[in-house]
Amino acid sequence: MPVKVLMVCLGNICRSPLAEGILKAKVNPSEVFVDSAGTAGYHIGKAPDLRSIEIASQAGIDISRQKCRRFTPADFDNFDYIFAMDRENLMHLMDLARNEADSKKLYLLLEKAGMPGEEVPDPYYGGPEGFREVFHMIDAATDKLLPMLYRP
Ligand code: 4NP
Repeated sequence: MPVKVLMVCLGNICRSPLAEGILKAKVNPSEVFVDSAGTAGYHIGKAPDLRSIEIASQAGIDISRQKCRRFTPADFDNFDYIFAMDRENLMHLMDLARNEADSKKLYLLLEKAGMPGEEVPDPYYGGPEGFREVFHMIDAATDKLLPMLYRP
């Protein structure tokens, strides 16, 4: 059974699709399963934002076939690690947790990657440079996470 990792942001069209694509590019799919979701339901069924697709493709990562979905409490049953991109989404997920086992699966991505207090900022209303920054933050964070994602 692979370790299962869920990346979560607000819309599931900018940050978490990038986090899904970047981590997937670094792991063996038989050992680590990666998915993403949003806490909001504004864009369900849609492909990622074109700016995320573009910045990923510059690194040779194709996220264009991902489909936006909303986080559901059943995800607590299906995933081992649930990484929120920012504190607001972490709080939202904490509210959805049904018990302590659920809440123990929740982490702030950058905090777990050794960058305490830092968040992956929402790039939606900004320009392409925000997407570049988000890409690099997630790329660095997922490098640091790799050792803990493999079962001992
Ligand atoms: P994401 O960015 O949470 O990184 O996917 C956003 C996408 C859409 C919206 C906000 C943030 N929105 O308000 O529609």
